[in-house]
This record gives sequence, structure tokens and C-alpha cells, in this order.
Amino acid sequence: MILVTGGAGFIGGNFVLDWLAQCDEPVINLDALTYAGNLDTLKSLANDPRHTFVRGDICDRELVGKLLAQHQPRAVINFAAESHVDRSIHGPGDFIQTNIVGTFNLLENVRTYWSGLEHEAKQAFRFLHVSTDEVYGTLGPNDAPFSETHRVEPNSPYSASKAASDHLVRAWHHTYGLPVITTNCSNNYGPYHFPEKLIPLVILNALAGKPLPIYGDGQQIRDWLYVKDHCSAIRRVLAAGRLGETYNVGGWNEKANLDVVHTICAILDELKPKQGTGNREPGAVHAESRVPDSDSQTSYAAQITYVTDRPGHDRRYAIDARKLEQELGWKPAETFETGIRKTVEWYLNNSDWVDNVTSGSYREWVAKQYHNTNS
Ligand code: NAD
Ligand code: DAU
Repeated sequence: MILVTGGAGFIGGNFVLDWLAQCDEPVINLDALTYAGNLDTLKSLANDPRHTFVRGDICDRELVGKLLAQHQPRAVINFAAESHVDRSIHGPGDFIQTNIVGTFNLLENVRTYWSGLEHEAKQAFRFLHVSTDEVYGTLGPNDAPFSETHRVEPNSPYSASKAASDHLVRAWHHTYGLPVITTNCSNNYGPYHFPEKLIPLVILNALAGKPLPIYGDGQQIRDWLYVKDHCSAIRRVLAAGRLGETYNVGGWNEKANLDVVHTICAILDELKPKQGTGNREPGAVHAESRVPDSDSQTSYAAQITYVTDRPGHDRRYAIDARKLEQELGWKPAETFETGIRKTVEWYLNNSDWVDNVTSGSYREWVAKQYHNTNS
């Protein structure tokens, strides 16, 4: 079996669902259920004996030690983190605690567990640390995309805490021989994305008739990766990645934020037209990368609102994912165009998940169901 941390979050949740859709190897899922953790994402696994959910903190040394000893996983995949840059600006403390101290604690627990394994199990064991391209800092418009050897130059409390965790993981390999691999991924999007992040926020605000907030001039660039492609990359790295290495994961989809928001609005205009947009021919919007002026009052794009920029806002991220492709044969399956359409459709078709996340009732349910339980 494998032990996944943070498996009730956006990427971890998608990973657990995908893993159990692909194979029967059981998963122990350790998640603290912070505001970002959501058991609704894992609802389809409620009666699945291959999935064991444990509510707990990666900083809890006793609990992590107990889980490793009890379940004897062949791998630990660490998704658990505080992940939102804006929250890290308002309150960096939780980021230091979970992302740095939590990773340190996992590494120490895993080192103890791994040291005690028999030769074969010891050879096969992996600690896979899921990290971000934000550790590399920011790029100018003509700079080459981030390779694995790019300098580490984090600019936000979030990215600094992730960079620190990456350093710890690296050091535990070099010093103790722990069999680790780190992945540094670009911006993910897709189903079950908590609506504090740009893409789900824009979809839900658009539908609710609220402003679509664009930080600064909206020309910041991100390299978008459909979350299921990230999950397949992690599976591939776990299966065949070289120990002690880092692998960049990206979608070759650099987009300016404003273009992303216009694309979402155009898809919504087609799939769920606002009153007054009339009955457009389905698909007509594909040809439109911008909302025509005559439609501007009835398109969702009319809700775009420029707001104060994020402090220290990184201008451009772009990932060079050739190492992963050349060494391990991984490539993303989705383009941004196919992935963003699937994503908008998912949000339109999953209003229950959305309502629970936005109303907070899922947290009440979790408190009732899991109050003071660790397994
Ligand atoms: P998320 O915020 O959606 O989920 C994080 C999960 O970790 C939540 O379920 C939360 O409850 C859990 N968690 C938080 N603190 C914990 C703790 N102390 N102990 C146990 N569980 C805890 O994050 P995400 O977007 O799914 O990101 C997952 C990982 O991938 C993170 O390490 C993040 O840095 C990295 N990453 C994210 C992206 C992205 O675009 N979202 C891109 C690259 C890398
Ligand atoms: O690059 C990988 C990173 O991508 C991950 O490590 C992080 O965990 C993840 O949150 C994401 O970070 P970003 O800061 O890039 O994502 P976010 O969705 O918050 O913002 C995307 C871009 O959109 C960014 O340039 C800021 C901008 N933005 C965001 C919000 C929430 C806006 O313009 N308006 C908004 O309201």
C-alpha cells in the first residue's frame, strides 16, 4: 500500500481517485482537513475497502510513526501543504509549520521506518515530495523556462516554505540515503479545485454575477497543467524516477491571466448564456478569443474587475518538462483548450460539491463525523 498525505485536497484528492481507478493497491490517506481539505471529494470511496482515511496532522510525530508501523507502506507521497500564496502573505506561520516543520517530521518518521525495513522492502521504498515551480522565482518575458537546474529564488512566504521543504528532502537523501524524489509542478487546474484559486474563483464568481478580480494588469503568465496530467506524472515518477532527482512537471501552456479569464467567460457564454446573450450556436464561441464589444454587457466578461496587485507578484512561470519526457516518457494528455472546457463543465455539473465548499456545510459534517478520531 501507499501512504498519501494531503489526499483530501485538490491535487491529493484527484491523485487518490485516479490511483484507485487505475489499480487496486490500497491507500492510507492522512489529511488534517484544514479549510482546504474536503471529504466530499472522496465521497465515491466511502465504502471502498482500498481507501482508509485518517484525519491527522503531518506534524504529529506519534501519529505518523504509528501509521507507518501499522500499515508498512511501500511509498509515501507528500501532498500535504498550505498552498495558497495570498494566504501566505496574510499569515505565513501556518506555511512554516506545515510545509517546513511538517515535511521535516515526515522525513524523520520515514527515516526511522525505512531504516528498519528488510533489504528488499528498503530498496523498493520511495518518498515522493510534491513541490512547485514557484521555488524557482519569476521569469522575464524572454527567459528560458525553468529547468531542474534553475536557481532556487522563491519570492513569497509560500514558495520560500516549499523551497525549504525541497532542501530538507534533498538533504535527507544525501545525508541519510533516504530514497526520495521531488517533483516541481506548474499551476494545476481541474475538478475539485478550492475556489480561492484563480480558475475556480472566476468560474463561480461569473455564475454568481460577482466581480472577476484581476490582480494588477492581468498580464502575469502561468503555465497551466490539467490536474489529471499531474497525477499521471506522479505515478510515472514513482514507478521509474531516479532516486535523489527532481523532475519538473508542466503543461507547455503559458497563458496570461487575463486570457485565462476571457477563455472561461467565453466557454460560459456558450454553455450557460447570461440573459440577453440569446441562443448562440453551440461551438460558435470557439472562434472568439475575446468577447465582442456588442456583447460586452451580456457576456460574463463584463464582470472583469481590476483590483490591487498581489504584493511581490511573480510575473511569469514556465516549465521545461523535457527531463520527464525524455527520461520517463511522460507527456500531458490535455491541452489548455481541452482541459479548461472539461473544468468549466465539471463545475457546471457538480453544484452539490460547489455548494458544500462555499457554504461550509461540509466542514460541519466532517466535525460531526470525525470529531476527535484519528482513523
Ligand atoms: P490544497 O491546499 O488544495 O490541499 C492541501 C491538503 O493538505 C488539504 O487537504 C489540507 O487539509 C491538507 N493539509 C494541510 N496541512 C496539513 C497538515 N499539517 N497535515 C496534514 N494535512 C494537511 O493543495 P493542492 O493544490 O492540492 O496542492 C497539493 C501539493 O501540491 C502542495 O504541496 C502544493 O504545494 C503542491 N503544488 C500545487 C500546485 C497547484 O497548482 N495547486 C502546483 C504545484 C505544486
Ligand atoms: O505555480 C504553482 C502554484 O500555482 C502552486 O504552487 C500554488 O499552490 C498554487 O496556488 C498556484 O499559485 P498561483 O499564485 O499562481 O495561483 P492562483 O490561482 O492564486 O493565481 C494564479 C494567478 O492569478 C496569479 O498570477 C494571481 C492571479 N490572480 C489570482 C486570484 C486568486 C488574480 O489575478 N486574481 C485572483 O483573484
